[in-house]
Amino acid sequence: MNDKIVLITGATGGIGKAAAIALAKQGFTVVIHGRNLQKTEQVCEEIRTATGNDKIDLIVANLFSLKDVRNMANSFKQKYKRLDVLVNNAGGIMGKDRETTIDGVEKTMAVNLLAPFLLTALLLDILKNSNDGRIINVSSNSHKLNAKPDFDDLSLEKGYNPLRAYGNAKLFLIWITQHLSQTFNQQGIKNITANALHPGAVATNFGVESNLGAVLNFIAKLARPLFKTPEQGADTIVYLATSGEVKHSSGKYFVNRKQASVAEKYYSEKNEKAVWDYCMENTKAFKSPVNLEHPGSK
Ligand SMILES: NC(=O)c1ccc[n+]([C@@H]2O[C@H](COP(=O)([O-])OP(=O)(O)OC[C@H]3O[C@@H](n4cnc5c(N)ncnc54)[C@H](OP(=O)(O)O)[C@@H]3O)[C@@H](O)[C@H]2O)c1
Repeated sequence: MNDKIVLITGATGGIGKAAAIALAKQGFTVVIHGRNLQKTEQVCEEIRTATGNDKIDLIVANLFSLKDVRNMANSFKQKYKRLDVLVNNAGGIMGKDRETTIDGVEKTMAVNLLAPFLLTALLLDILKNSNDGRIINVSSNSHKLNAKPDFDDLSLEKGYNPLRAYGNAKLFLIWITQHLSQTFNQQGIKNITANALHPGAVATNFGVESNLGAVLNFIAKLARPLFKTPEQGADTIVYLATSGEVKHSSGKYFVNRKQASVAEKYYSEKNEKAVWDYCMENTKAFKSPVNLEHPGSK
């Protein structure tokens, strides 16, 4: 019998939903996160029927709001005292005009970086209750193709474009995954791993509703028939969530189940610390009970 509990963000469609179905088939208790109650309830029912697994639960939060992220973590912890697998999957590319959230943060950074950062921090105490806790962050190859960070302007107040913002956020998500893993080592936490992955180019709702501009919209439409299915896109998530082969892998980046290289161009300890501090600063009002101060901070 599988008594493991997984929480998957953005599981109402695309890769997240496919991962939820695959893990439900393996007997996990699957908590589906969505931002619309009705849609999330429908997906839950669909997964119960398709898999015969009744242990499908839901949680609703808009990840553009850090308060919602905190409420989501609190409700989860009221119901569950342990979390075995956290899949920070929700994310996406925004439109051609820069927009900010209720917290005043650029939207791409909010959903792809700050929401997973805060959610992970707030759930760490119950991930520690697992004997095999796994944090899985869905990043993208776009961190290699499109990232061009300005460390004095992480919110892209100048020079915003949707691909650059997305590439930056996915690069930073890998960096915080690596840093979390180092923190676990330093704090002697041996029962939680943190890894990131690229799911491939997958035919989902990704980018479909973003107004990227005529040229990018056209290219995306043209390339779509070549994309992976959501099930294929979810494969590396399911592998990282379940395989014994990666039980002790941490701080790594995976593509097609294999460890892959991360772009080095913008990495330095100083830059990584700037990103970590940016995450800490922007989420401090929603503070985590866990000490995640960067060792380089005063
Ligand atoms: N598809 C690709 O080719 C590709 C490639 C590389 C990386 N990725 C990454 O893979 C992950 C999954 O993407 P996907 O392709 O499955 O895209 P998708 O079909 O658009 O699904 C994204 C999921 O995230 C949710 N979401 C988005 N913004 C949210 C918000 N503010 N609050 C709450 N939920 C939110 C969506 O909820 P709604 O249903 O309510 O919209 C949906 O469930 C993303 O992190 C994406 O960046 C995708």
